[in-house]
Parts: sequence; C-alpha cells; structure tokens
Amino acid sequence: MTRARTPPVLVTGATGRVGRAVADLLIDAGVPVRALTRRSETAAMLPADVEVFTGDLTVPESLDAGLRGVDTVFLVWTAPPATAPAVIERLAAYARRVVFLSSPHQTPHPFFQQPNPMAVLHADIERLIAAAGLESTIIRPGMFASNALFWWAPTIRAGGAVRWPYGAAETAPVDDRDVAAVAARTLYQDGHAGGDYVLTGPESVSQAEQVSVIGDVLGRQIKFEELSPEEFRNETEGSWPRPVVDMLLAAWSATIGRPAFITATVSGILGSAPRSFRQWAADHVTTFTAGPAPSN
Ligand SMILES: NC(=O)c1ccc[n+]([C@@H]2O[C@H](COP(=O)([O-])OP(=O)(O)OC[C@H]3O[C@@H](n4cnc5c(N)ncnc54)[C@H](OP(=O)(O)O)[C@@H]3O)[C@@H](O)[C@H]2O)c1
Repeated sequence: MTRARTPPVLVTGATGRVGRAVADLLIDAGVPVRALTRRSETAAMLPADVEVFTGDLTVPESLDAGLRGVDTVFLVWTAPPATAPAVIERLAAYARRVVFLSSPHQTPHPFFQQPNPMAVLHADIERLIAAAGLESTIIRPGMFASNALFWWAPTIRAGGAVRWPYGAAETAPVDDRDVAAVAARTLYQDGHAGGDYVLTGPESVSQAEQVSVIGDVLGRQIKFEELSPEEFRNETEGSWPRPVVDMLLAAWSATIGRPAFITATVSGILGSAPRSFRQWAADHVTTFTAGPAPSN
C-alpha cells in the first residue's frame, strides 16, 4: 500500500546501477525522490523529477541538506569504511528507516562464506544501523548479471576470447532490475520493516555457460579460455583492486562442484519470476556489440 502524501526517499548511489533504477521505480510509484551524488554534473543523467543533492558519504555533514524532511533512506555504500559510523548516526538523526544494499555474507553456502573486506564492511554497517535504532530492511543480492558488462563486454566487443578463471564455477546471476524492483517495493510498500532478503537469479549457471549464453544471443560462438588464478591475478594487476580479485577468486574456488545458492525471494516479493541470465543478456545485446565501454 502506498502512503498518502509520502515524504521523500533519499536515494544514495542514485547514479549507479541499482540506485538509478530504484529512483526511476519510486518516481513511477509516485514517491518523491531525492538523489544523492558527489558530482553535480551527473544531475543531467537523473530523471527530471528527482531533487538532486550533492553529498559525499566520506563527508558526513554534507548529507544534512538531503536528509532534512526525509523518512526513509536507500543506502548504497561503495565508499571507504571510515565514515560509516558518523553517517549512520546522521541518518538516524533525520530518518526513521533505512533500506540497505548489502550482500549475502550470512548465507551458509561456500560462495558467500569466504572472509573478505566487503563482507566485513556490510556486517559492520548492518550492526551500526541496528544499534542506531533505525528500522531496517536489508537487501542481499548475489552476483549481479551486469558484472558481465565490466568483465567480458570489452573483449567480446573486440571479437576476442574471454580469458577467465574458474569457468566451471556456478553462480545464480541476479538482474539489477530485479534487485532494484525489490528494493523499491520495500521502500514504498508497508510490511518490510525487519526484512532480510537474499536475492538471486532463477538458475545456477557456470561462468563458461554465461559466456556461451551471451554468444547465443549474439548469434556467434565466443571462445572461453580458462586462466589459472595466478594468471588472472597477473592480468588484472594494476587495473583491478587486489582485495576484489582475491574476494572473487576465493568465492569461485570455494563453489566449484556445487550448484549456486538460489532463493525464491524475488518472486515472493514481486509476484513475478526473476529474469534469467539469458533474458538479461538479450536485453543488453547492444552493449556487447557497439558503443563505448561501460564505466565502473
Ligand atoms: N556487483 C555485484 O555483483 C554485487 C553483488 C552484491 C552486492 N553488491 C553491492 O552493490 C553495491 C554497488 O551498487 P551499484 O552496482 O548499484 O553501484 P555502482 O553502479 O558501482 O555505483 C556506485 C554509486 O555509489 C556512489 N558513490 C560512490 N562513492 C560515493 C561516496 N563517497 N559518497 C556518495 N556516493 C558515492 C556513486 O555516485 P556518484 O559517483 O554520483 O557520487 C554511484 O552512484 C556495493 O555495495 C556492492 O557491494 C554488488
């Protein structure tokens, strides 16, 4: 049920993959949106009817203007951890409720159980939210299908082979649009206080199969060349953060020989099945064939 005269929702990460889609869905649902960005020049890429606030999670006081009069915050944290306690304190001073984009670090499947700094950060932020007395909903997507844009699209556009480790590692890629749709629902619909939602795609698909599915929708075969973990470390040296590389290698390695963890949460909340990886690929075909490389 949508509340009458709904107060605005502050959407952080509003220029990012999930936050941008959440902003669109809230607007569609008639909910006023405040969009947070560090760069005022990005206002042009946001929907015309959002109110844009410039602010930075590493400068907690910069959030005050956007928080005044807000009831609920959609929190996406891609900043360093140092200011998280001060930011959560500030959110609690202004808002009643937070919907936090986290990860399935509590899920008892080897893929999600490898120690890594991202899991520690997410767990810390969840603890801070609870300790601040904020009402919360925690959204825990597994691997985004759209990671394929950053990982493989440049090579595929160039007509090359995908050189990648752990081709047999299975994940259940979740479409960002489904993640955003669930997050938006919990932001404008009652009944999600205390919700803790692990979101996955509908099927377990190995990384090599995902590349093959992209080839299918493009109508050509894409060669998959297996790299050793060491080769992958060398190839990403200097261009990827080392902790991210270590986190991915540990997760893929731990899941070899097991199907991915799958939940029915997306359909439970949205009433429709999550999009498959094939659907995601078909909807992003132009990104694999033309245009500038996606920026992270
Ligand atoms: N990729 C996956 O498979 C996956 C899986 C599970 C969970 N997650 C989580 O999803 C989150 C990322 O979501 P996403 O992919 O939608 O993000 P994204 O596309 O990487 O965009 C990052 C957003 O964060 C904002 N941002 C970055 N630093 C900021 C700062 N210091 N202060 C304020 N805003 C800042 C950016 O806004 P401006 O540049 O406009 O300021 C941008 O809107 C991460 O927490 C990640 O752990 C990802």
